Amino acid sequence: MIKSLSDNIFQFFKYEQTLNNNNLKRNDMKKTLLSICILTLAFSACTNNKKTVELFPERNFDTIVDSKKVAIYTIKNANGMAAQFTNYGARLVDLWVPDKNGKLKDVVWGFENIKGYLNANDLYAGPIVGRFGNRIGKGQFTVDGKSYQLTLNNNGNHLHGGTNGFYKKVWDARSFKNEKGEDALELSYLSPAGEEGYPGNLKIKVIYAITANNELTINYEATTDASTIINPTSHVYFNLHGTTAQSSNSHILTIFADKYTPTDSLLIPTGEIVTVENTPLDFRKPTAVGERIKTDFMALKYGKGYDHNFVLNKKAGEMSLAAEVYEPATGIVMKVSTDQPALQFYSGNFMDGKDTGKRGDVHNYRTGIALEAQNYPDAPNHANFPTAVLKPGETYKQSSIYAFEVKK
Ligand code: BGC
Repeated sequence: MIKSLSDNIFQFFKYEQTLNNNNLKRNDMKKTLLSICILTLAFSACTNNKKTVELFPERNFDTIVDSKKVAIYTIKNANGMAAQFTNYGARLVDLWVPDKNGKLKDVVWGFENIKGYLNANDLYAGPIVGRFGNRIGKGQFTVDGKSYQLTLNNNGNHLHGGTNGFYKKVWDARSFKNEKGEDALELSYLSPAGEEGYPGNLKIKVIYAITANNELTINYEATTDASTIINPTSHVYFNLHGTTAQSSNSHILTIFADKYTPTDSLLIPTGEIVTVENTPLDFRKPTAVGERIKTDFMALKYGKGYDHNFVLNKKAGEMSLAAEVYEPATGIVMKVSTDQPALQFYSGNFMDGKDTGKRGDVHNYRTGIALEAQNYPDAPNHANFPTAVLKPGETYKQSSIYAFEVKK
């Protein structure tokens, strides 16, 4: 643009000279030149405009971690919905969905390049976490009569698979068209026996796809050669404003759950399953995330805000709508469906602004929410929670869908 402007000015002076030399009609020539300038400006504005709607600027993800190649992968549908992933942590980097004006907005936290992820203060922007998402008290559990000690990475407890969980691993990636003709990305990882303290060689595969109906689907499959436990989940921070310049407290949330699992002050479930009624956790009717966030959470044992496991209203294994989020400013609606028994709703209570992500977005306090489809936290230590055990010969499966619509 600057170059074409300076070229124009240069041309103008050249023409001025020619005018003097040839005694041509000055005013006519000026008019012509002015038209050329306007046309060139309009043309460069158009070309530049093309650049600004280009979804993915240069993103450098090409590096080697643990002797494995890291890269970035793109999938999209014909409506323009698109997503980028990196195989470092099987992470969602971008998710572009239309807003109420038909403009695409990137509704997830992420970094411009691989360095951002490698140096991040918050380790959980967009990855698959596991082997066990959320917490296991004291990192201990027993399977087939044998006790195991996992790494402790959160106040003496095990969180999101430990210090070196799935979110830090380089997964093998394969882009392909699935049987429905949708763009898909398969990420697979072999977690060796003993990794982070877990028994069994665990083979896991996650397939992301974007459907013609503007859904991001996530399908998981895993097998093991020795009895173990498993509970992987997608740990994406959503902000339906499309920027962290605005808080996610304005999102209107519905969670289809009558019950939740209370915890102690370190967020380890007590084992109780209780009603959400008369608590700030009652999201059965659409309610703004920030509306009750200052309510006396002490009544719920701690005072940080939402970081709770909601027990979904459904039969075991049934695929059903778990939550709906709506942002009035952009009109974007996200519907989360899953076959999992529970959903962790985290309102960004520990976000601290130390990370700066894509487009200079600062990851400030409560500028993203996570809605993680999962088994109950600490399930292996509570007989009344659904089992998280996976045995040789069995296949662990999970399906979750994040569907996008607009409300005008
Ligand atoms: C947990 C939070 C944790 C966060 C890390 C959530 O899934 O429930 O307690 O701080 O992940 O980003």
